[in-house]
Amino acid sequence: MRVPLIAGNWKMHKTVRETLNYIRRFRELVSEVTDREIMIAPPFTALYPAGRELAGTNIKLGAQNAHWAEKGAFTGEISPLMLKECGVEYVILGHSERRHLFGETDEMIRKRLSGVISAGLKPVLCVGETLTERESGKTFEVLERQVREALSGFSAEELKALVIAYEPVWAIGTGRTATPEQAQEAHRYVRGLLAELFGKDFAETTRILYGGSVKPENIAELMAQSEVDGALVGGASLDPETFVRIVKYGG
Ligand code: 13P
Repeated sequence: MRVPLIAGNWKMHKTVRETLNYIRRFRELVSEVTDREIMIAPPFTALYPAGRELAGTNIKLGAQNAHWAEKGAFTGEISPLMLKECGVEYVILGHSERRHLFGETDEMIRKRLSGVISAGLKPVLCVGETLTERESGKTFEVLERQVREALSGFSAEELKALVIAYEPVWAIGTGRTATPEQAQEAHRYVRGLLAELFGKDFAETTRILYGGSVKPENIAELMAQSEVDGALVGGASLDPETFVRIVKYGG
């Protein structure tokens, strides 16, 4: 079965000191949790100390992006090998803020995915439609393009650690969560696409997370959907006391 994954994307929040304070509190709060995976993705500057502080805990470390090369003349970029050395296990790729604010294309995201896979890290591929796309009936079309293009050229074996995060852009940071039915419908569509591309077994074992204004108040109803395998949480992951309520949904 698919083990739920509750992940916190901190975006551009928290210094090293703030990260360590958070982790020292949060690891106590979640120490008893064994039936689901927990991940936090601090900014790059905090990854190394965070990795040391998380060693031996049940909290996985994630990064918010990665370049495709091991090294080279790519000013401002970070390589998958550098992340691995920090203790990173998951890498978020293709987040809508990368796509829309920083011009990342499906092709760039595919290349980043290849670098992450080559380094033995686990990609969390974000997909999702804008409000205009949803309102003009293009949701499935957009999801299909983002999934197909990012995953083109890979085998099911190479993608065995893949996680997908469905994050409707209109729900990110807006307080406007997708309804459980909207999430279920989009996830079902993506899973159908994975089945078509890589086979039914692959689709059935790949986790699809929901992201976009997830809070302690709405996590349980989202997780009650059969196609929702976890959450990628932004704002509500920044406070350990709040995030633990999301991690412990249903408990
Ligand atoms: P919010 O939870 O702040 O809406 O952000 C969601 C997100 O973008 C997670 O990657």
